[in-house]
Amino acid sequence: MSDEGDRLTELAKRRGFFNQTAEAYGGVAGFYTYGPQGAALKDNVEAAWRDRYVTREGHMEINAPTIMPEPVFEASSHLETFTDMLVECAECGESHRADHLVEDHPDSAVEDAEALPNEEVADLIAEYGVACPTCGAALAEEPVEDFNLMFETNIGPGSSSPGYLRPETAQGIFVDFPQWAEYARNQLPFGVAQIGRAYRNEISPRKSIIRVREFTQAELEHFVDPDEDEPPLERVEDVVIPLYSVSQQEADDGGVQEMTVREAVDEGVIDSDWLAYYLGLSKEWYERIGVDMGRFRYRQHLSGELSHYASECWDAEGELGGDWVELTGFATRGTYDLDKHAEYTGEEFSVFQQYDEPVTVERPTVDPEMSYLGPEFGGAAGDIVDELESLAARDPDAFDGETVTVEVDGDSHEIPVEQTGFAVEEVTESGEHVRPHIIEPSFGVGRLVYTVLAHSYEEDEVDGEERTRLAMPPEIAPTTVGVFPLMDKDGLGERARELASELREAGLEVTYDDSGAIGRRYRRQDEVGTPFCVTVDYETLEEATVTVRERDSTEQTRVSLSELAETLRGLRDGDVAFGEL
Ligand code: GAP
Repeated sequence: MSDEGDRLTELAKRRGFFNQTAEAYGGVAGFYTYGPQGAALKDNVEAAWRDRYVTREGHMEINAPTIMPEPVFEASSHLETFTDMLVECAECGESHRADHLVEDHPDSAVEDAEALPNEEVADLIAEYGVACPTCGAALAEEPVEDFNLMFETNIGPGSSSPGYLRPETAQGIFVDFPQWAEYARNQLPFGVAQIGRAYRNEISPRKSIIRVREFTQAELEHFVDPDEDEPPLERVEDVVIPLYSVSQQEADDGGVQEMTVREAVDEGVIDSDWLAYYLGLSKEWYERIGVDMGRFRYRQHLSGELSHYASECWDAEGELGGDWVELTGFATRGTYDLDKHAEYTGEEFSVFQQYDEPVTVERPTVDPEMSYLGPEFGGAAGDIVDELESLAARDPDAFDGETVTVEVDGDSHEIPVEQTGFAVEEVTESGEHVRPHIIEPSFGVGRLVYTVLAHSYEEDEVDGEERTRLAMPPEIAPTTVGVFPLMDKDGLGERARELASELREAGLEVTYDDSGAIGRRYRRQDEVGTPFCVTVDYETLEEATVTVRERDSTEQTRVSLSELAETLRGLRDGDVAFGEL
């Protein structure tokens, strides 16, 4: 791990942000537990996400189970395609991500080995002479294989009903799409969001909470009519976003281009207006939660990198310890998921959009003569009927002549039109079924927590003493205020404890601390990112005021007890700045 990674992991464990789960049992790779500070920080990131992507955007939030039966993942293609490249060491039996070994090798210029075929990655392992990172044995002769990342289980006793822990929260939204469509009164566009756990049996979990086997996603599935619906681009058109497009990645001297959302759309750098909207909206949101914009970019997926369902995808990436790490994927999923679930269930995964007035349309139909088709075509007769029906719908002119030709399993069959029962009927329709397109911003909450910690970490000097501080926004900080008595005597301790509980009742996150010198207590709060500290002193008892000290500037001011809770809430929510007090 990088120096930054080591520093952060040490701080995270010592100050209760996160630690490897079940360390007493030797720890389990890829599983982390959030301690008191980390759980509070994660909650605050999720609350800020909910505020932005659910409440303010007017979407609905659901909560689906984390286990679903096998057919769901057969339909979604996860059973077939949700794999990573595995190479196993014959010497020590350890498994490794083959693509990562290639990318990380010092001689390698390959940035995205995942996009290459397995055989090519095996060849590169041989060419670079890659050795097993665990035991040092050569991996040149080992095959590179696909490894499915889903955790399998059995639903109920026995093995007749296999199930999987969801690898993305999204499928929980898609499988019940007919419910959400009805709830939204069949009116597009609408969005369904979910914050919840996802599970991936990563081959090599690494970099603390960045690549784990159980993690939290915050996903929004926005269902839109591609012909009718447009995003409110004007709301974000002037937001400047750092774009690392495919062409910039392919250019020798290519770098990030800073441009407004409007320019990116007009110049065709971003194809989908909807993705452009979310990139603009999200840039402001990342800033709000404390991601350093000097260590942030949007990178477009190269064509070989796109998921099986996506036609355009941009990742929000944060620079962490010298590497660029994906924080969020923004993808156009088209109708892929709804098509597949409709195909596998036979249900209507679409919205029924009522016309203003009923319309009369001509509908070509067939009513084939089975007493002719059966004897003439035997077992193929059923498929021929299906083909005639679909041909009538897509090309009624094919029935203009004496005979019509259909292809079934590569064989061509000529059928007299009079035996097809072809007719054009007039029908009155009150509306039509529309299968919406899906726009998906998919956030990894753990990676955001890590990024906020890494990007807010600062070391400076106060009163000749070194200090570490997490300069994160007050809204996100796990604790909003530390309450201290100047000393625990003369009634100061009791008054400070009372005050801490009054502030908790007022809805603030409070830590009470009376141990050690006041300077050390400040340092302890600075190190976990507490933005404000309140000190109860003798003046408090006489004049009902306290000192409020700001973490970053270390400046102090006096505030009356009667206004304290309101003032701290205003500071936390960004309604007032410390300098204005
Ligand atoms: N529904 C789309 C989807 O799941 P993804 O890019 O595979 O897309 C979305 O995942 C986000 O989930 C990523 O941007 C990342 O932040 C997070 N994520 C994915 N795998 C992860 C892992 N093993 N550990 C931690 N976070 C992960």
